[in-house]
Amino acid sequence: MMFTRFKINYFLILICFFLCQDLANAAVQPPQITPEQFTQTEFKLIVFLGRPGAGKGTLAQHLISRGYKHISVGDLLREELRQNSALGLKYRKYIETGHSLLPPNVVESIIFKKIVSSIHSQDKLVLDGFPRTISQAQALETLLKKNQVDHAVRYIYIKTSEKNAKARVLGRQVCTNCHAVYHIKFCPPVSSGICNHCKNKLIQRSSDNERDILKRMDVYNTSVHGVIQYYKKSRNLLEINGNKTIAHCINSLDRRV
Ligand code: AP5
Ligand code: MG
Repeated sequence: MMFTRFKINYFLILICFFLCQDLANAAVQPPQITPEQFTQTEFKLIVFLGRPGAGKGTLAQHLISRGYKHISVGDLLREELRQNSALGLKYRKYIETGHSLLPPNVVESIIFKKIVSSIHSQDKLVLDGFPRTISQAQALETLLKKNQVDHAVRYIYIKTSEKNAKARVLGRQVCTNCHAVYHIKFCPPVSSGICNHCKNKLIQRSSDNERDILKRMDVYNTSVHGVIQYYKKSRNLLEINGNKTIAHCINSLDRRV
């Protein structure tokens, strides 16, 4: 009798041990989507590439209205700064001026968790401001492969002249609350200086000035341009003529994705 009770207790302890192990594993490793599950997945990722002022944020805004979630690396970093986070304070100069990219891995640590979470909840996602280096492009590819969603990504290059992009950046106004983007001439808000959506005050970004924009174009030419060449060789890079009007660019995007 005693021996049988001992056996039952021993058995129960074993079950608890394996259950706890399973729970611990589940907490450490997010569940992977199997290929079978993935044939039915809704997850899609659109990656926008283009120089400062090309219209990445503007076209992303349009995709939000089509049900996409938007990850703008620039907006996330500016938010870190607004909240005086350790990361924001450490990289204040980078974020405020755009004179150089943040060091490798810093941005990955912020956005990869968000991408994985979107994969698991099968969101449609638009990524703006990443990758900006070939090593970031490769890290993104590894992440997508690991999660078996590398076929669900579209890379889109918004090709815009430096002259047009510069004129756009210098007239840009943004909402710090909902991140909507306007332009004093090309996309003015209904009431001057007020966001159409949330009625918050619009501001000019600190790096949207003659001096900083030249440096930001240099950063683009030395890093992001290389990423575009990389995708041209290794991926099917779709191209949008970003020199056209906003309505034209939206139309061109809708025909492609
Ligand atoms: P980020 O905020 O991403 O800046 P950016 O790349 O310079 O891009 P912009 O936001 O200026 O341009 P956009 O293409 O979104 O243009 P928009 O739609 O607003 O990054 C900021 C900084 O963060 C970087 O400099 C870097 O330091 C750091 N960082 C970011 N990513 C990083 C990474 N991966 N690694 C390391 N560091 C990183 O449009 C511009 C204006 O034009 C608007 O006013 C709009 O209304 C108007 N407009 C848009 N399209 C048209 C059109 N077709 N016709 C007329 N007007 C138009
Ligand atoms: Mg932007």
